[in-house]
Amino acid sequence: MRFETARNKRLFDENWSFYKGDIRIPHAVKAGMTGGITDCGSIREGEWLEIAFNDKGMGKEQLEWASLSLPHDWCVEQQYVQDESLGSRDGSHGYLPGGIGFYRKSFELPAEAAGRKWSVTFDGVSGTSTVWVNGHLIGENRGGYIGFAYDLSDVLRYGDEGRNVILVKVDATECEGWWYEGCGIYRHVWLEETDLLHVVEYGTYITTPEATTQQALVHIHTRIHNDYTESRSVSLLTEIYNGAGVQICAKSVQAYADWYGETELEQMFQVDQPTLWSPDSPYLYKAVSILEYNGAEVDRYETVFGIRSIRFDADEGFFLNEEPLIIKGTCNHQDFAGVGVALPNSLIEYKLRLLKEMGANAYRSAHHPPTPELLDICDRIGMLVMDENRKLDSSPNGLSQLKRMILRDRNHPSVIIWNLENEEVLEGTVTGARILKTLADTTRKIDPTRPTSAAMNHGWNENGYNDVVDITGYNYGHRDHLDIRDHEQYPDRLMIGSECASYTVTRGTYEDDPVRGYCSEYGTNIPSWGCNPQQAWSDMVNHRFLTGVFMWTGFDYRGEPTPYQWPCVNSHFGLMDTCGFPKDSYYYMQAVWKDEPMVHLLPHWNWPGSEGKRIEVRVFSNTETVELILNGRSLGQQAVDRTGYLSWEVIYEPGEIKAIGRRGGLTVAEKAAVTAGQPVQIRLYPDRLAASADGSDTIPVRVAVLDGQGHVVPTADNEIRFEVVGAGQLLGVGNGNPSSHEPDKAEVRRVFNGWCLALIQASAEAGTITVRAVSTGLAAAEVVLSNL
Ligand code: GAL
Repeated sequence: MRFETARNKRLFDENWSFYKGDIRIPHAVKAGMTGGITDCGSIREGEWLEIAFNDKGMGKEQLEWASLSLPHDWCVEQQYVQDESLGSRDGSHGYLPGGIGFYRKSFELPAEAAGRKWSVTFDGVSGTSTVWVNGHLIGENRGGYIGFAYDLSDVLRYGDEGRNVILVKVDATECEGWWYEGCGIYRHVWLEETDLLHVVEYGTYITTPEATTQQALVHIHTRIHNDYTESRSVSLLTEIYNGAGVQICAKSVQAYADWYGETELEQMFQVDQPTLWSPDSPYLYKAVSILEYNGAEVDRYETVFGIRSIRFDADEGFFLNEEPLIIKGTCNHQDFAGVGVALPNSLIEYKLRLLKEMGANAYRSAHHPPTPELLDICDRIGMLVMDENRKLDSSPNGLSQLKRMILRDRNHPSVIIWNLENEEVLEGTVTGARILKTLADTTRKIDPTRPTSAAMNHGWNENGYNDVVDITGYNYGHRDHLDIRDHEQYPDRLMIGSECASYTVTRGTYEDDPVRGYCSEYGTNIPSWGCNPQQAWSDMVNHRFLTGVFMWTGFDYRGEPTPYQWPCVNSHFGLMDTCGFPKDSYYYMQAVWKDEPMVHLLPHWNWPGSEGKRIEVRVFSNTETVELILNGRSLGQQAVDRTGYLSWEVIYEPGEIKAIGRRGGLTVAEKAAVTAGQPVQIRLYPDRLAASADGSDTIPVRVAVLDGQGHVVPTADNEIRFEVVGAGQLLGVGNGNPSSHEPDKAEVRRVFNGWCLALIQASAEAGTITVRAVSTGLAAAEVVLSNL
């Protein structure tokens, strides 16, 4: 490692060892103790474990450590079991065991690294974690959804002092939520080095008190920390760059940085004719804070920001840059097929892109703060965010988690609402209102520019609970039209559809099947509190005071297999399945959320044995009229209902059923379902053809089973084997089947209703990656990806 610049922040994800299981660590560890599992001291690799166990009474067996890179989720590597005693729960683990695991990493620092500030940042560890460095107990963290950092400067070894060992115990036996939470160090880890005089991490706060297309005022607070034992006169130069990388303003301010303390500096900039940030035009600026002492640069800290204004109105909803904008949102948990919660950045982006293609302009990170990169991507691609605190909790740890979230996220233009809690038991109670007020005040103190909210499912209008936040969230407000009735009674209240629909459907399934755990895409098995997307959306468009919807959910997730239990292991609420394959309801959202003409019909057209029977064909479209054609014969034309769907009763015959969408009498969109023959071949549809050779970039490859004519066989369930050769590896597989117990970390996967997914991860060395998919009785498929 070389340390030449003022600040070095480097990924610390590589070369970790992992042990799945518990290891007893003696409590009375003296500071600086050498040897033992928390340290490596002068003991040679390979010997240290034996000595540690014999000397410290930790057992004699030689443990086997696996080598891996972060992010990592050990939960997804387990086998499904229906056994709570093994730590397997339906919700938090999706019937996969949790447990305890240890991570360990050894590294060296050069002698000249001494005298600098060194810290390690964990962006998220699922479970309660304990960190030791070189035998020193550094800290414990409860709360798997927000990052934490430790200053390691004193306990690290530099140059000849020896190697460093960082040991992390993760206890994931308890759970924080009722959805799949994963286990382990599932987000990035960073090692950061600065001068003793530096900008504090998340130490800039950039607001735009004025933001019009004529002019913007950019207000920047910068916190600096001086860890020298003498006070210093410093200068802070802040430069602002536009999206093209051109410097548009720069200003310096002098300050006196008190010794061993923090100093806050304030600067105001005027930007003429700024380009405003919005989902359609996600234009970003960058502030570079350069800290100088004695004419030399001691720190350089970058903050990306956007110029935009937000406003909420009790009658008309949300305004972005003074333009009304309906919030078209989805709620999402963070897991994905093949990886559990350990998503490479590129998969986070893939998920967000799929949501954007559906027409969504907003994302609710249910029910916790998202990974930091998710917000960077939302800023960049244009996606509004309801950023969420994990719990109604004003204990020291609860407040600390909230503060860390707001300090971390308050410069993101995408973030428009701080959501402080979701469906807590204490909603509507006196105690609940007190706790919520503390959270709301804490939030406003750190960021007064965004409204606070609570996503409630009961207790509205009781004990002043929802009055302590700015926006009242209605989870399933459609029930008895309680949101509409509340608007009449409390006309000044800001409202939002914080959670809507909960429509349980299984991709490609058209009949409820309680034994196998499938719900029909016709929506015939939805929970009592849920409704179909049509109702959720039409309530919104007919009542602009509802501000927007957050559909539960964009993607299926592991756990919460409502309305079923085992053998079902994941949820059915998604507009897409766990692989991001669209369900029919995805196309409904696309029809009402997007303007580009589209038409979609359901079901598929493979119903052997149903010849002569009636089948309901539904069509979603945003055109003016749709005509349905069966084997060349018109079944009639219907005018499109802008918030509903069209329906035909069709006497089934195999062949082709086609929907034609027209505007002004012209065909602008069409889609057909064709009766497919027997499975004959595999086809691969990579999302991209080239990856970045960074050891992380992941290309999702969609895999379909086709008949001889090239039509997807919508009932196929063939098992596919993947062979990946060259500069990449198979990171995981999935198929969206909510009852599949096949492992996601495997080389084989069945297609489910015609489709499965393979995740191909680029290696750090450039080259080509050959992905081959084979299956008994089917023609194989191959695709060559480049890794540049
Ligand atoms: C809500 C809850 C979500 C999820 C959903 C299922 O009540 O906030 O986390 O459980 O119901 O419909």
